[in-house]
Amino acid sequence: MRLRLLLTLLLAPLAAQAETCEATVGSADTMSFDVRTINVPSSCESFTVHFEHRGRMPKTGMGHNWVLTRATDVEGVAKAGVAAGAASGFVPQGDSRVIAATPLLGGGERASVSFKVGMLAKDDKYTYFCSFPGHWSMMRGTLKLGA
Ligand code: CU
Repeated sequence: MRLRLLLTLLLAPLAAQAETCEATVGSADTMSFDVRTINVPSSCESFTVHFEHRGRMPKTGMGHNWVLTRATDVEGVAKAGVAAGAASGFVPQGDSRVIAATPLLGGGERASVSFKVGMLAKDDKYTYFCSFPGHWSMMRGTLKLGA
């Protein structure tokens, strides 16, 4: 009986997470995200991504961030990010193509970012990626506006 209660308590947050307006995405000392697809419920007013760099390498060598753009804007924003440099976290400042972006993180760091769901269109495709130089072509995932 106690075990069952414990399991219920442990599993409840997982079940609730599917209904909430947030997601957790992790990465380590490789060029990949542990979550490749995020579905954003259209009932959410805003959506929050909690990004965790679970590796050990410093952000100068294996920095990661989480940047959201339309799928067609990935390459342009990634190149503008490299040009913006490390001081800007490899994200072009004031660029309207950037829907959301976390700061650049090193191993052991975490950050959250929120954006208005109204910025997303149902028939558009969105990609999140890491804009650290050399990472964007591999380190990416798909974000969709759900029903
Ligand atoms: Cu990265």
